[in-house]
Parts: sequence; C-alpha cells; structure tokens
Amino acid sequence: MRRCDELGAISDEAGQLTRTFHSPAMQRANALAGEWMRAAGMSVREDAAFNLIGRVESKNPHAKTLIIGSHLDTVRNAGKYDGPLGVLAGIACVENLRAQKIELPFHLEIVGFSDEEGVRYQTTYLGSRAMAGTLTKRDLAVIAEKGIERARRSRRDLLGYAEVHIEQGPVLEARKLAVGVVTAIAGQSRIRVEFEGRAGHAGTTPMNLRRDALCAAAELILAAEKSGVIATVGQIDVEPGASNVIPALATLSLDVRHANDSRRIAACRALKIKADQIAKRRGVRVRWTILQETASVACDPQARKILEKIVARHEREVISLPSGAGHDAAAMSAICPVAMLFVRCKGGISHHPDESVSERNVAKAIAVLTDFVKECCG
Ligand code: GLV
Ligand code: MN
Ligand code: MN
Repeated sequence: MRRCDELGAISDEAGQLTRTFHSPAMQRANALAGEWMRAAGMSVREDAAFNLIGRVESKNPHAKTLIIGSHLDTVRNAGKYDGPLGVLAGIACVENLRAQKIELPFHLEIVGFSDEEGVRYQTTYLGSRAMAGTLTKRDLAVIAEKGIERARRSRRDLLGYAEVHIEQGPVLEARKLAVGVVTAIAGQSRIRVEFEGRAGHAGTTPMNLRRDALCAAAELILAAEKSGVIATVGQIDVEPGASNVIPALATLSLDVRHANDSRRIAACRALKIKADQIAKRRGVRVRWTILQETASVACDPQARKILEKIVARHEREVISLPSGAGHDAAAMSAICPVAMLFVRCKGGISHHPDESVSERNVAKAIAVLTDFVKECCG
C-alpha cells in the first residue's frame, strides 16, 4: 500500500496523477519499481518497448517462463491502483516465495507494462502487444519511438501470464468478497472521428447558413449514447477553438466495448452510417479512422480452475466474472494462456482519483497469487 502511494506521487502533471507511455514520469516509475524488484532478488531490465522486467531465474536453464504483470502507465487524473497494484502484488509474491525458500521449476518474471491505457497514442496495450508481437503497421507508424517491436517474446518460452487487477466495478463489493476470478475480457474498438465544416463569424453568420463541425459531432455523441453497446466519447478537440468562431474541425475519440465481438462491430458500423448521414445533412465532411480493434478474450479454462480452487481456500464463496475493462492479459493471450484475479475496489470507482482498495483485500490477493505460483510448480 505504501508503494502504491509512492508510485501514485510520480506524475507528469502537477496536482494529479498522469503517466503516459515513455514519459519522464514513466521513466521515474520504472526506476523506482525496478529498485523494489532488485531488493526482492530479481535481475531487472527494460525491454525495447520500455516494459520493466524483473526476473527470478530457475535452476533449470531450459525451463519456461511464467509472467506476472500489469501496467505502470495511467489515464489522466488517475487513481493509484489501476495497473500498479498488479505489478506490486507480483513483487510481493516474489518476496513471499523467497521468504518461504521456494525453488521454482520455471523462470518467473514480474512485468510492469509501459502502456495499457493508450492515452499517449490513443492505441492501447502498446507494451503488452509489443511483447506479444501483435503491433500493427498502423501502430508503428504513429509511435515516435522506433524499434519497440524488438520487445517481442517467443511463445515457446512462455508458460503463461497471470495478472492481479482492481475490479473497476461493483460486483465483489456487493458480494462482500475480497477477490474474484476473471472469465473473459471484453473486446474494444477505438475510433477517431473528424468532422470538417467551415469556420465563420459567430456574430454575423445566420444559423441556417452554417457548417458547424461541433454541432455535427454533438449529434454523433448522442447517437453513441443510444447505440445499445458500451460507447464513450472521452475527448473532443475543436478548431480553431475560439468563442466567437464557428467550429471548422471537431475531432472526437470514440471507445466502443462489448463482450460479443460481432455486436461491437455491428454497433461501430451503425455509428459510421449515422456519422455519414449527419455529415451529409449538415454539409460537412467526416473522416472515420479505426485506431484499434481488440477482440474479446477468454481466460484459460485450466488456469481459471486452478485459481478458483485457490480462491476457495481463501474466501467463503468463489465468484467468476467477466471484465468490461481492457487488460494487458488480453494482449498476452496471443502468445500464452492467461489468468486474472480481480481485487475488490471501493464503490467500483476507477479511472478517477478516488480509486480505493483495502489493505486486507490486497493481502488476500497477494496470498492467492503466491499460492497460484506454488500450484503451478506442480
Ligand atoms: C483500460 O483501462 C480500459 O480502457 O479498459
Ligand atoms: Mn485503466
Ligand atoms: Mn488497468
């Protein structure tokens, strides 16, 4: 908990917590978490995608590697636990294993991924997708840093991936449980929509002669609200951006989620048609750019069973639940089986500075994770 506070104080923005891909604050966060990894007996490196990796070497040099991870980047004005808690739980797990003198038959790595939130480039999972080798040409074109694809790992070397994360929803709290096992991670689409109209004088241009880009955007935002899927416009940029000038360009982010991929894709298509209709009626132009599409991912059934068995030892009830939020586990599932454990968070609040977890519940998550690793020892 103290380490969460310390990382929570490392920010790119004064007065609030914001850490984005490879920013100065991310470099400081990696340096600090790296010190804790070293103190826990790990060798530490940063890969080509700026993922922080602490490693405990097995005596068997031919062994595969189990990765435990989550992300150290944050959204803007974030809480302290989304991401970092999972990395720090991993370090605590290594400390437990060391204290218990457990000899691992596999290598164990704790990874702090460099980008899960996608704030800097509006494309998520840069760190974990670089590791999984699934970055697209489009990703590489928008990212200023070169060579991040060299972080790719071979599936042959990996045993699996496990992640502890706050639930970011209210289910565990309602059931008065500390932890729950994740069944699947919802898919997501991230789209950039640009409406291009014509600037003009706010005092002299009659209302019926305007081609206002922001009014077109506003119609699409309300259509997204009624789209029948989980859809959010979280960012708008308006140009030229003056109170007395009619907006010429409105650029919005559109984030669409659904557990069922075909429903998500159909909703995106319907919204694109809607955007075209709005543009036509208003005499503006629209550009629709899909920045990222991630399919929904099921957690590995066998790993899930093991986790459920362990949770049963620590909780009076085992619940398994899907995740509406995205996680690095979704990206890692491209190269190895993945398992996820949720920790209860207060009021289900996340992506907000009020994010909160209790020490007791975190202790339980670390105990479950430690038992999970021991169970994987066979
Ligand atoms: C990651 O937090 C997401 O947007 O789901
Ligand atoms: Mn998040
Ligand atoms: Mn997260």
